[in-house]
Amino acid sequence: MTRLHQEKLKTLARTVFDEPMSRHTTLGVGGPVDALVDVTTRDELKSVLAWCQDENVPFFFLGGGSNLLVRDGGIRGIAIRLAGEFETFCVDHESGDDIFVTAGAAVSLTKLIRWSLDQGLTGIETLAGIPGCIGGNIRMNAGTHLGAIGDRVEDVTIMNAQGREMTIPHRGLDFQYRRVRLPQAAAILRAVLKLQRGDMEKARATFKELLDRRRTTQPVATQNCGCAFKNPDKTSAGKLIDDAGLKGVRVGGARVSPLHANFILNEGNATAHDVIVLLNLVRERVKEESGVLLEHEVVMVGEEKKRSGKEKRSRC
Ligand code: EPU
Repeated sequence: MTRLHQEKLKTLARTVFDEPMSRHTTLGVGGPVDALVDVTTRDELKSVLAWCQDENVPFFFLGGGSNLLVRDGGIRGIAIRLAGEFETFCVDHESGDDIFVTAGAAVSLTKLIRWSLDQGLTGIETLAGIPGCIGGNIRMNAGTHLGAIGDRVEDVTIMNAQGREMTIPHRGLDFQYRRVRLPQAAAILRAVLKLQRGDMEKARATFKELLDRRRTTQPVATQNCGCAFKNPDKTSAGKLIDDAGLKGVRVGGARVSPLHANFILNEGNATAHDVIVLLNLVRERVKEESGVLLEHEVVMVGEEKKRSGKEKRSRC
């Protein structure tokens, strides 16, 4: 990115340069992005996207960074993070028992669930414990064993790379297990979720049970990026990795969680390279043991770090 690019970007939105992505992912690894741009309004977003088109600068939308693995060489181009008006939510309209809530893409799912319970609304407590924000959760169709966010989405409003906004109704989104049909280059701006007035005692109990279950079955206190692999049909990736005897296996500072085998931990000094080598090892061993080829759930972005001649020699 040239100096001119940097000067212009700073006039469009709040920007920091060469920002280590390890600070913006829950796994805590990853090299620097050329520029991290915080946009707070749709107009700002439109200007930034137009500039990217004109200058041919690649862009990428950063959500909560909770299912993201950034390689050690970092990201060329800009990471766009939504804030300001994208962090707001409110009741949009009501129809019988259904209450429709509009939530900006940068709203924390946990905050929204807590608010819904305070308002006497049920429907999303089944998603308790899922980290990240609405935009990222929709992009991944994040879920628990009780359901996925797509079950509650009425429509999603996006802005495409040309700055055009469109609202896509549920039937056009084709939500499937950990996927949704949305153009990759489009920003999710907001979504309307369908909630209900219902049995709040039951909703609160579900919320608590899910959080307790997560605390006892998942390594919540150590840096990780959620489940590393998608569950294959009719079985659990965690069980397959466990059955392959891989719990606790380490590469550098990365380790397969001894508690839940589908979580890769950063024990403090892991690099993205360590994590990727470990993920590859897990995939190979599970394939050998069970015949199942696991599919990554974690999203990988960025470039490999160019290793120096000395480093290369020391590995031979
Ligand atoms: N299991 C093992 N060993 C392990 C881990 C799990 O034998 O190391 C067994 C469990 O005993 C259980 C089965 O595998 O019989 C399923 O495990 P669990 O109930 O923990 O659920 P999961 O399928 O591994 C899914 C989601 C999680 C979500 C939980 C709870 C996926 C890939 N994972 O995990 O979502 O939190 O259900 O609802 O769909 C995520 O997607 O990032 C994620 C963490």
